[in-house]
Amino acid sequence: MGPWPLDPRGPLAESISFVYWVLFACAVVVLAIVVGALTYSGIKFRDRPGRVAQQVHGSNTLEVVWTVVPTLMVISFTVLSWNRLNFINDVNSNVAMTVKVEGRQWAWGFTYPDQPMFKLPDGTLLQSGEQLDIPVGQKIKLELTAKDVIHSFWVPNLGGKKDAVPGHTTTMWIQADQPGTYKGQCFEYCGDGHADMLITVVAHPQNEYAAWARTAVADAARATAPETKAGHDAFLAGPCAGCHTVKGTTAAGKVGPELTHIASKPNIAGVLSPVNQENLTKWVHNAPSFKPGTLMPKFDGVIPDKTIDDIVQWLLTLK
Ligand code: CUA
Repeated sequence: MGPWPLDPRGPLAESISFVYWVLFACAVVVLAIVVGALTYSGIKFRDRPGRVAQQVHGSNTLEVVWTVVPTLMVISFTVLSWNRLNFINDVNSNVAMTVKVEGRQWAWGFTYPDQPMFKLPDGTLLQSGEQLDIPVGQKIKLELTAKDVIHSFWVPNLGGKKDAVPGHTTTMWIQADQPGTYKGQCFEYCGDGHADMLITVVAHPQNEYAAWARTAVADAARATAPETKAGHDAFLAGPCAGCHTVKGTTAAGKVGPELTHIASKPNIAGVLSPVNQENLTKWVHNAPSFKPGTLMPKFDGVIPDKTIDDIVQWLLTLK
């Protein structure tokens, strides 16, 4: 059914859709009874020539029934929701791993837990943008925050929504019962790029997860050589990451081209060739002068020259 809350693929989403279906079924029954009784009375007791309505003065039985039954229903809904909410809000028991999630305009960044399998050679932890990889059948706790405005994390097949709020940490958990790719979307309007603020959760079979982590750490290590760290950090902290994706980092922008292998490309934006230090530097300084109408703004005077040099040095390592 695709990304849809009524197609649950994990215990959290199942819990939510169970409550939904119970409430929905009861609402349908109540609606049928009310509309049925109304229609029946309207036809049976309608005004006809020569007919005089019989006067009725209340019915104790009916009044008791329509007071007691709805009261019992509302109490049951409360107990059911309470019970399910305890399960849904229990972010701390049986957690397999905790992932830090940061929403920013306009991408999601994930930092994997402080465990040896996610450690890069430089001691930092594996990060990713837009895509979160998890093992199947395990409870993953998410600690959410935001860099700029409020965002909301929502992967419908795996669970409910949770706001990511600047300066504040909120928590939720997700779990996938089958391997697969689950799509999600930022659910709080957060500006121009809101619609493109997508989430992809990939659930791997448990026995393949360690192999995935090894590959991801190797890819990420490629982008974090110590001699180009300044450029790497400047790229991720600056405006670049808002528009460009570099796999193995939190940069997951969708506005501009992906730069994961920029240093192996034949040209820059189809207009500057080859991809070398001189051309990249010229391009970052003033892209519109080479390609009028490009979305990439002029950074000459906006980003210090030294920082642009650092960024270019780092991009040249992305083979
Ligand atoms: Cu982030 Cu909408």
